[in-house]
Amino acid sequence: MRKTELILALDVNSRQQAMRWVNLLYPKVTIFKVGLQLYTACGPKIIQDIRKTGAEVFLDLKFNDIPNTMANATRELLKYQVAMFTVHTLSGPDALKEVAQACRGSRAKALGVTVLTSISSNFLKDLKIQRSLSQEVLYLAKMAKKCGMSGVVCSVPQAKIIRKYLCRNFIIVCPGIRPAGSSRGDQQQIATPQAAKDGGADYIVVGRPILEARRPLAVTESILRDIS
Ligand code: C5P
Repeated sequence: MRKTELILALDVNSRQQAMRWVNLLYPKVTIFKVGLQLYTACGPKIIQDIRKTGAEVFLDLKFNDIPNTMANATRELLKYQVAMFTVHTLSGPDALKEVAQACRGSRAKALGVTVLTSISSNFLKDLKIQRSLSQEVLYLAKMAKKCGMSGVVCSVPQAKIIRKYLCRNFIIVCPGIRPAGSSRGDQQQIATPQAAKDGGADYIVVGRPILEARRPLAVTESILRDIS
């Protein structure tokens, strides 16, 4: 049976708040996601602070640039000893290959963001993209695999489809996770932790359902039970 792990999205704006969450939840949660907000607020030192506790860091900066810039930024990021990081698959195959090449010999797993879980199929229609949302995600995931990415970030329904076509050791990370009863927020493609596990996710990313909960520890424990 595939193991599904919980990643907490540290979507907060200070070191103090971030470390409060890490200290509360580690080692129940062993991977913490540093995204645009926290990284912009605290800089790379926050990664070191989190790693000092023994926890791992998923650096979610979603690079999207020309191949040369992506490769150089990846080489800088690898100095932080993160476990995983993200780039946009829409940066194209040349950029993805450069990133994969830069990662050779490092412990960091490069993940390609397919279509953001906040994007609806109507937006793809507006852009005159012919493929359905699922077809588009599968196309981008196959491209990411071919270019040497370690895995992808996608919604739970898309994870199920990708699992059918790509090998078991291709990492699938699913955000847009909402335990029953929690509010959708800006996410369009949502699923429960249990559905994510059943869909073949290796990792689920959860932010607001824990960060905004009245009893965050209880919510975390309940999610961990759902995916165990
Ligand atoms: O609060 P919520 O659980 O919706 O947070 C989801 C987290 O996952 C956010 O930090 C967001 O940046 C990230 N994410 C996402 N969709 C993606 C990739 C990352 O929601 N495709």
